[in-house]
Amino acid sequence: MAPLLLFSLLILFPFCSSSDETPKITLQLNHVKLTSHRDPFHYLATLVNASLLRARHIRNHQTTPKLSEAPLYPHAYGGYSFSLGFGTPPQPIPVLLDTGSDVTWIPCTSSYSCRKCSSPSNPIPKIPTFFPKRSSSVRLLGCKNPKCSWFHSQDTLDSCRDCPSNSSTQCPKLCPPYIIIYGSGSTAGILLSETLDLGDRTVENFTVGCSVYSIAQPAGGIAGFGRGVVSLPAQVGAKRFSYCLVSRRFDDVDGKAGSVVIGGEQEDSAAGLSFTPMRKNPNIKPGSAASVYYYVDLKKITVGGKKVKIKKKTLVPKEDGSGGTIVDSGTTFTYLDAALMEAVAAAFEKAVAGRYNRSEIVETATGLRPCFEISSSPGTVLELPELGFDFKGGAELRLPVENCFVIANDPAVGSAACLAVIGGEKDGESAVEPAVILGSFQQQNYEVVYDLERERIGFQRKPCLNS
Ligand SMILES: *[C@@H]1O[C@H](CO)[C@@H](O)[C@H](O)[C@H]1NC(C)=O
Ligand SMILES: *[C@@H]1O[C@H](CO)[C@@H](O)[C@H](O)[C@H]1NC(C)=O
Ligand SMILES: *[C@@H]1O[C@H](CO)[C@@H](O)[C@H](O)[C@H]1NC(C)=O
Ligand SMILES: *[C@@H]1O[C@H](CO)[C@@H](O)[C@H](O)[C@H]1NC(C)=O
Repeated sequence: MAPLLLFSLLILFPFCSSSDETPKITLQLNHVKLTSHRDPFHYLATLVNASLLRARHIRNHQTTPKLSEAPLYPHAYGGYSFSLGFGTPPQPIPVLLDTGSDVTWIPCTSSYSCRKCSSPSNPIPKIPTFFPKRSSSVRLLGCKNPKCSWFHSQDTLDSCRDCPSNSSTQCPKLCPPYIIIYGSGSTAGILLSETLDLGDRTVENFTVGCSVYSIAQPAGGIAGFGRGVVSLPAQVGAKRFSYCLVSRRFDDVDGKAGSVVIGGEQEDSAAGLSFTPMRKNPNIKPGSAASVYYYVDLKKITVGGKKVKIKKKTLVPKEDGSGGTIVDSGTTFTYLDAALMEAVAAAFEKAVAGRYNRSEIVETATGLRPCFEISSSPGTVLELPELGFDFKGGAELRLPVENCFVIANDPAVGSAACLAVIGGEKDGESAVEPAVILGSFQQQNYEVVYDLERERIGFQRKPCLNS
């Protein structure tokens, strides 16, 4: 599907371009669709029609909040979203807060199509999309704009640099379309330079992707909070950002939210926060997906207060760039590589031995392990050990049961509590990936501060539910 899309976009380009380096949009993609009967456009039209897009419930964010502290909503698909205002006047669009990627993109124009973005149980009629036509500040990112090099290789850019200024439409004037491939799914579109409204301030010339086609993405777009120049905090010049993730119990419950803060001052009362240094993985290639990850030094893992026995080098990044630990708001359940998962699961079994039986039926059904049979009668108190992560610099997470276990209920099988941690394949492809990804489920009811100036990440347990 992706090559076909690229074809369509390239065909669309000449219609949008004008002679300025950063031309103003004069035609909207959907306009082309309406006036053309050629095949690629019909194809796009069909995709648009596939606005059977029943994406997960996204609240109707009517107003652009103050980002001194904006509500951050939990969703059943796993992510947390907040609202950003794009354009002049600002159009509020909900975006997923993702520290594991750096590009910010939003669903764009009425041509936006999102396949496999739905959940049968929760249809949503309308994905909030951005309309460039309604903004007076929108510009297409020019090919000669230095920011275009954030997305494309030198070879690609050379083709437009060598272009004489008076050439015809054969010559690329615009930064070529982007295609971003995520762990699951992808998105594609064109790059815009647009005013971003952060509520308490506006930022001009913010580079944002205008996606016209996505596969398996959240409703709304993604705000990239990873490291690097493309990242939202870097583009708006924020020295820090933080979030407080409300409990998953409030998934898609109207009005229940945690918070996100972009910018703000270094509080003197960093008291209560425990910090660990941000690391750069020295073996990661610049420009690779992993180059934007927030690496930290995990020193040990504990179960029920006891240190899990693992080889020391397991936690150290390897020479091929794999291994190491990252903190990620865009991953739901914490990921451990096969060896670590083995050790942690064994430690839980040992700590629980005799008190609960394992439920292999539930383990098979959910893909999680270990799962323990529990009583489904109301008022049952779970006595399960806590999972702990100790980081360099003294930061530690002592995760309570609700941050570690999910309850699986099935009338036929009974109830089970499953460790909300996923393990890697034992002989899986050794793709360059971290050994530990600290996911959002484990970060519930923690304030997590990314201090970009002093390159450190701080944690503090606290109730995140807005009142
Ligand atoms: C869009 O959907 C309508 C109703 O389902 C159908 O009549 C129409 O032919 C579709 N258009 C395209 C381009 O698929
Ligand atoms: C572009 O400008 C150059 C020099 O000014 C001229 O020789 C050439 O014919 C022009 N080309 C087009 C396509 O107008
Ligand atoms: C934004 O871009 C425009 C046009 O390129 C430029 O004139 C303006 O100075 C830029 N604004 C900022 C704040 O960089
Ligand atoms: C575990 O399973 C055994 C055999 O089915 C049963 O006798 C025992 O009571 C169970 N233990 C608990 C704690 O449920």
